[in-house]
Amino acid sequence: MLFRDKVALVTGGASGIGRATALAFAREGARVVVADIAEAGGRETVKAIGEQGGEALFQRADMLKPADIREMVAATVARFGRLDCAFNNAGHRGGSTNVVDCTEQEWDMVLGLNLKAIWLCMKYQIPEMLKVGGGAIVNTSSGLGNFAAPLTASYSTSKHAVIGLTRSAAVDFGPKNIRINALLPGATDTPMLAPAAQGSNLKLQDMANRIPLRRLGTAEDQAEAVIWLCSERAAFTHGLSLICDGGLSVLR
Ligand SMILES: NC(=O)c1ccc[n+]([C@@H]2O[C@H](COP(=O)([O-])OP(=O)(O)OC[C@H]3O[C@@H](n4cnc5c(N)ncnc54)[C@H](O)[C@@H]3O)[C@@H](O)[C@H]2O)c1
Repeated sequence: MLFRDKVALVTGGASGIGRATALAFAREGARVVVADIAEAGGRETVKAIGEQGGEALFQRADMLKPADIREMVAATVARFGRLDCAFNNAGHRGGSTNVVDCTEQEWDMVLGLNLKAIWLCMKYQIPEMLKVGGGAIVNTSSGLGNFAAPLTASYSTSKHAVIGLTRSAAVDFGPKNIRINALLPGATDTPMLAPAAQGSNLKLQDMANRIPLRRLGTAEDQAEAVIWLCSERAAFTHGLSLICDGGLSVLR
């Protein structure tokens, strides 16, 4: 068990990559806080953790509301007494727009959720981790944090910025024993992917065929990467942008 006696917080834990990671943390012994705006899905994740013998709390939190983020961290410590690991993962793909078509509303929503919320998560998580002598944080970027794709103006911008935010935080808080890394998932079979495939006129199977491993990623593939990054096995891995994409990004 990699996280015995540890407490992990997962945002976007009601679905997809967040849910798979919450379940994986619990299997490795962590007590888990599942935070999401989606109540039914969040409670389902908590139920599934209970069914596999783990302990979890659902905390409803809208990542676009700073007070909810502060309260989410406070609720974690109130319930479990500490915070050791955080996976800041809630996100939205935005519309299929370029920089001309993108509306101010879309821009503010996507940058607010995918970027500003991660800053605020770390702002409140890090002081709690300092109280217990250290911690590990993974922030979800994307393959589109490294490269651009057509009609992803707000999303790609937000995901590039997550890498900068992660590196900046890593430089400042590495000396305090808080490891901070970014995960860059490639096309992963979750509810978020289907509309993305439509937006780019690519069917999911076509997407899979372009990937060197010839399949889409699964939420569990991404969860494994997060678990490793948060564990002591990655003790010297810090400020990294870990690409988990079946090799897509090495294709020209
Ligand atoms: N699926 C992919 O192909 C892929 C690829 C690269 C990056 N990502 C990133 O992975 C992360 C997880 O996505 P996923 O694929 O699991 O999608 P998903 O849609 O299954 O999960 C996203 C979760 O975020 C939650 N959420 C949305 N708005 C929120 C808000 N305002 N406050 C709190 N929670 C909110 C949703 O309710 C949902 O549970 C996202 O940041 C996404 O950008 C996904």
